[in-house]
Amino acid sequence: MASAEPFVLRWGVLSTGWIAIQFVKDCLVDPKTRGTTDVIHKVVAVGSRGGNVQKAQEFIAAHGDGQTIKAYGTYEEVCADKEIDAIYIGSPHTQHYDNALTALLAGKHVLCEKATTSNAAELRHLLSIAKERNLFFMEAMWTRFQPLTKELKKIAEEGTLGDPVVLHADFSHHFDVDKLPKTHRMLDPYLGGGALLDLGPYPMIWTVLALYEHPSNKKALPTSVSAAMVKTPLTGVDSSTSWTVNFTSTLRAQAICSCSMMLPTAPFGVNIRYRNGNILVSGPTPVPSAFTVQYFDKPGSGVVVREEKRVFEYVGGGWHYEADEVARCVRDGKLESDLWGHDKSLFLMDTFDEIRRQGGYKLPDGVEKVL
Ligand SMILES: NC(=O)c1ccc[n+]([C@@H]2O[C@H](COP(=O)([O-])OP(=O)(O)OC[C@H]3O[C@@H](n4cnc5c(N)ncnc54)[C@H](OP(=O)(O)O)[C@@H]3O)[C@@H](O)[C@H]2O)c1
Repeated sequence: MASAEPFVLRWGVLSTGWIAIQFVKDCLVDPKTRGTTDVIHKVVAVGSRGGNVQKAQEFIAAHGDGQTIKAYGTYEEVCADKEIDAIYIGSPHTQHYDNALTALLAGKHVLCEKATTSNAAELRHLLSIAKERNLFFMEAMWTRFQPLTKELKKIAEEGTLGDPVVLHADFSHHFDVDKLPKTHRMLDPYLGGGALLDLGPYPMIWTVLALYEHPSNKKALPTSVSAAMVKTPLTGVDSSTSWTVNFTSTLRAQAICSCSMMLPTAPFGVNIRYRNGNILVSGPTPVPSAFTVQYFDKPGSGVVVREEKRVFEYVGGGWHYEADEVARCVRDGKLESDLWGHDKSLFLMDTFDEIRRQGGYKLPDGVEKVL
């Protein structure tokens, strides 16, 4: 019997920066190389802002793998294209709200890079528009859809390790900020610059995976967050930020998170410590290639009696798994993903608002479109 044709999701891409390159390249990887046969991706158009159609053309020539892809000089034209089902947003954080609103008002499903918006109020507004118009919306939290993550969660939740107690997660990158122009997105407060909004989503995804989503937590939101920021004298955005997220209504657990744009990721990356063992996740924090599970001889002893390592490999950068999730959700008429739903993006944005409040990082007037 012939198998059903795969569902084709037709993408429009907003922006021509680093992440847009990775996303388009991964959309063009043959899905069969990762065992995906039910969905496939077609990149219909790429847009560059401000009338710069040439930048979009150059992007397509360099990264379009010889495919026929339309180039536009505005994001509005991409969103208006009737051959497109879903828009991928790869602009800087503070542009996401306007770009996503344009896409949703044009009737398009949306996959939006992290940090989803400048604040939680912007995200709530976008989600209300998406719901009103029956459109799918997802934060591009690619880590959630990788095979390693799915396997790790099975082991973490089958019971042998017991409840999580402490999670340590860091994601940092040496951006060499002294050499960057102050208008670079990592430094410019008008673009939501700083470590937190750029790097902070990754310690947070591990907090969500290991603590918030743990069955013993019963989806309880954290009871408190406490944070501290160190600012760069260059532009006043945060150069390093650390925070704890405490879950005390159901679990008795704590996530200790950090990020910095001054150094590479801390050698430990992500350590999840359970009553009966540890899961040590090898870096990089957003896209780990391996993890090790350690089992103790008795609860809380720290004496490791058994250790198992799992290694994961695939063709491409790992962003295609989130694209597959969007395609399946759109095919099935879902408005949000079961794996990375709206509640989790809101949890992240609410936490970032609170961290910025405690750290004294106020975005410049006019940056936040909804307050
Ligand atoms: N998921 C991941 O692994 C990952 C990794 C890196 C970054 N990101 C996220 O992706 C977003 C972009 O990061 P990136 O590293 O791709 O940045 P980037 O290389 O600086 O590219 C950003 C692009 O956004 C467009 N843009 C729109 N409005 C802009 C403005 N006002 N100023 C500057 N550029 C503007 C520009 O393209 P046009 O001029 O062509 O429109 C620019 O090339 C951020 O939100 C970041 O958090 C995600």
